[in-house]
Amino acid sequence: MREVIISVSVTYRALTGNGLLSELGERVFGNVGNRRYCVISDDNVAPIYMSRALESLSKAGLDACSYVFPSGEKHKTLETVAGILDFLAKEHFTRSDALIALGGGIVGDVTGFVSSVYQRGIRFVSVPTTVLSAVDSSVGGKTGVNLGGLKNQVGTFWQPSLVLCDPETFRTLPSEQFASGMAEVIKYAALFSEKFGDRLLSDFNTEDVIAECIEFKRRVVSEDERDTGVRQLLNLGHTFGHAVEKISDNYYCHGQAVAIGMVMAFKAAVKLGVCPAGETEKLTALLTKFGLPLTAGFSEKEMLDAMQSDKKRLGGRISLVLPRRFGECFLYETDMSQLPSIVAAAL
Ligand SMILES: NC(=O)c1ccc[n+]([C@@H]2O[C@H](COP(=O)([O-])OP(=O)(O)OC[C@H]3O[C@@H](n4cnc5c(N)ncnc54)[C@H](O)[C@@H]3O)[C@@H](O)[C@H]2O)c1
Ligand SMILES: [Zn+2]
Repeated sequence: MREVIISVSVTYRALTGNGLLSELGERVFGNVGNRRYCVISDDNVAPIYMSRALESLSKAGLDACSYVFPSGEKHKTLETVAGILDFLAKEHFTRSDALIALGGGIVGDVTGFVSSVYQRGIRFVSVPTTVLSAVDSSVGGKTGVNLGGLKNQVGTFWQPSLVLCDPETFRTLPSEQFASGMAEVIKYAALFSEKFGDRLLSDFNTEDVIAECIEFKRRVVSEDERDTGVRQLLNLGHTFGHAVEKISDNYYCHGQAVAIGMVMAFKAAVKLGVCPAGETEKLTALLTKFGLPLTAGFSEKEMLDAMQSDKKRLGGRISLVLPRRFGECFLYETDMSQLPSIVAAAL
């Protein structure tokens, strides 16, 4: 088992280990201490893992109930939040009780948000079951739901009390979801460590890789809990990627779009003369290894139209994360008027 301790406004542990889900009860008892839990999940994850989670809690002498909502981004809404809040109220949950998010990033974001507002805030434990939620959303404390079709428009910063990741749960992930999460893993390599990228290219142990990604995220988040500085580096591939998601009408899932977005960021950096051309090779080798796309073939006009509405556009300026080399990136801020030439360079 690997442990990373995250110290921000609160301090919590992120535990990663094969088989940890069966130890949920004792781990929660030892690290969180509340007596009563509501395990929240979606209707794909619950049939596979809910009974194991509840059994483990009960074995540890803890009281637990469960709440399941339909999977998918269209259910990441205030309606779903209201349903959970009603349920907790009916079950007479109080501030001495806690929630457990059992699922991917959507379950995590919704559960975290509910935790932050129910009775002005109760504790929650994150049990990520996708690669993406393990390496990205479960650590860092961003919670939220969509509003009027716009992503994460309502949300809070609310840290979990414990993160418990069992990589064995990834075995039941659809292959596309596994690959999508690997795009975020590759992103950490491109951002912070060529050596880590080399390990991903050879045989690796998933448990170690997840723990290392959590460690990368820990470093960024402890420097910038509220996302006003260095945390923006985690947007590598995302400004172009969001545009790709949008134009393709989600034909490309998030990780695939980020993969394409990262290739674009590297191409743009090479053309702008801030990154040597050879640096793109390791990125494309890694993306290819995990079955991720390198290009979407969209036109400059399509990309530009989609990017004009990107939320990272602030007062006529745009921030892009660009590489200096594979393993080191920086925030490149420029005037919105430069966007057409950057997009042209990225294609
Ligand atoms: N809070 C943050 O910092 C942060 C960061 C990145 C992304 N996010 C959010 O995370 C969400 C995406 O997360 P995601 O990619 O985990 O998506 P997800 O939660 O939708 O999970 C992907 C799919 O896999 C299913 N699933 C989950 N675990 C499974 C398992 N072990 N076996 C079989 N099926 C399983 C889910 O039911 C779903 O259908 C987005 O809403 C995004 O906004 C949040
Ligand atoms: Zn992402």
